[in-house]
Amino acid sequence: MSKENIMNTYGRFPINLERGIGTKVYTVEGTEYLDFVSGVAANCLGHSHPALAKAISEQSQKLMHVSNIYWNVNQIKLAEKLTKYSDHDRVFFCNSGTEAIETALKLARKYGKVNGNENKNEIIFMENSFHGRTLGALAVTGQSKYQKDFTPLMNGIKSSKFNDIKDIEAKVNENTCAVILEPVQGEGGILPAEEEFLKKVRELCDKYDALLIFDEVQTGVGRLGTLFGYQSYGVIPDVVCSSKGLGGGFPIGAAIATEKAASAFVPGDHGCTFGGNPLACSASLAVLEELIDNGIIKEVDEKSKYIIDKINILKEKYEAIDGVQGKGLLLGLRVNIDPKVIINKCFEKNMLLIGAGKNIIRILPPLNVTTEEIDKALSILEEALEEVSKDK
Ligand SMILES: Cc1ncc(COP(=O)(O)O)c(C=O)c1O
Repeated sequence: MSKENIMNTYGRFPINLERGIGTKVYTVEGTEYLDFVSGVAANCLGHSHPALAKAISEQSQKLMHVSNIYWNVNQIKLAEKLTKYSDHDRVFFCNSGTEAIETALKLARKYGKVNGNENKNEIIFMENSFHGRTLGALAVTGQSKYQKDFTPLMNGIKSSKFNDIKDIEAKVNENTCAVILEPVQGEGGILPAEEEFLKKVRELCDKYDALLIFDEVQTGVGRLGTLFGYQSYGVIPDVVCSSKGLGGGFPIGAAIATEKAASAFVPGDHGCTFGGNPLACSASLAVLEELIDNGIIKEVDEKSKYIIDKINILKEKYEAIDGVQGKGLLLGLRVNIDPKVIINKCFEKNMLLIGAGKNIIRILPPLNVTTEEIDKALSILEEALEEVSKDK
């Protein structure tokens, strides 16, 4: 099997995966790995979840795709469900996180023109943020390592310091059409926003009639213990961008907006061929049924606390651990050595983990992970830490 035909855009681990069930994935040779990456927060129900597989299988035999110049039953049902469980009114469906961000950015620009004037087009983003790889999302990503080879970037953007009230106060003005941020910065290192900061940004957006956009691509769909992360902060954004967990591994994205924000768009302003197709929406409906109706989200905080308590015990034993940060099941193990050393040791012991920022190892199990699986993961981590401390 040749791998030479795939573009060279990822540093990959040397395994070729073929199937998975729950928290386990298997290589073509049949080697088992405990998966605490969950497709980077996408597989919120683990692999091959029966309800999700059933929904996709049944829908694929009924209707997979129709153009958005027609209505389709599942898209309407999914929009109803997302607006019922959020503080929002209208949804634009797409296929990925970065497309949800592009939608929100375009909506903000249109909102500025409709409700202000030609100059109300400035978008403020946070330092250290990550919003995706397409050129609009990349422009508002506050990390130059992702941008440097792809300049010039979109204009009309301004960066502000995350969790710094004074800085954002100095940046927002009547030309601002939107502020975009992650309630917990994910790729930047699992850094939660402070509630006071979010409240202040909300106030500023209200004062200058700018849209507050929350990028919930990683924090949404139960990850923080509420359907959307903003619900655990009590600050309501005008637009929520969702993806990853929304399809439980099936590609889907959504920009979910208040009527006030959404009303800026009219037919022809935006579109997406596959957005909201019946197949993707059937997957998402099955995911939401499991997470909300079958109570999985309710268990997230308890599982989070269980992991945090156990990591704090490990911290007492191993110098390499500096602490744990994050919210819900979007946790970051803070280490004071190169995180890759520990991630690679765990990989040798058949457990998958991923880093974030400079000194963080992400703990991203599926939301339906069991206590036994958490114990297993933490015992592999402990073995790895033991070896790392001996190697020193
Ligand atoms: C917060 C956040 N926004 C946007 C994206 C981009 O999502 P996608 O890779 O689906 O385009 C990601 C992906 O990691 C993300 O974590």
